[in-house]
Amino acid sequence: MPSVITVWDKQFVPAIPAREISQRIAELADEMNVELRDKNPLFLAVLNGSFFFAADLLRELDFVCEISFVKLASYSGLSSSGTVRELIGLEGAVAGRNVVVLEDIVDTGKTINQVVRMLKEMEVKSVAVAALLLKPDALQEQVELDFIGFKVPNQFLVGYGLDYNQLGRNYRDIYRLKE
Ligand code: IMP
Ligand code: MG
Repeated sequence: MPSVITVWDKQFVPAIPAREISQRIAELADEMNVELRDKNPLFLAVLNGSFFFAADLLRELDFVCEISFVKLASYSGLSSSGTVRELIGLEGAVAGRNVVVLEDIVDTGKTINQVVRMLKEMEVKSVAVAALLLKPDALQEQVELDFIGFKVPNQFLVGYGLDYNQLGRNYRDIYRLKE
């Protein structure tokens, strides 16, 4: 794990090493293997940020399940714009399904709340949310999260799917903005 990485004009330092991420994901999967096994869940990974999280989590599940990918854009640069566009890429019917949304990070909470609202309008049977990361101090709305990987300080992160202006997603570890 490099001690400093440069993404565009900013420097980032180690925050959560890959080993800790995979340990925590295995724990979340243990919970899901018990709680979701008999629910025929439809996992819905929110792209782009959750692609590593979804891939690593799903490989730890030991029951047969389905995954689909959706995309939305609400964020550019270092702070959340708070405006969410539509949910795109949803294949097949979600009505009547137990949907489990996989999100990389919950910051203000606006994105995940809007995703949940949109899914409820589609008459899903239930919606649960699994967020790899939560910044409790950044929340501007109340959120209901069923599975949380890590609570992190209100600092900008990159790596393991998270980007700064589209760069930095590829790192296996998570880095935070250097102060
Ligand atoms: P929210 O709507 O403010 O909760 O923002 C959620 C979205 O903003 C996440 O899905 C990420 O795409 C992005 N985001 C929030 N915090 C960070 C961060 O620290 N690094 C990279 N992306 C972030
Ligand atoms: Mg995201």
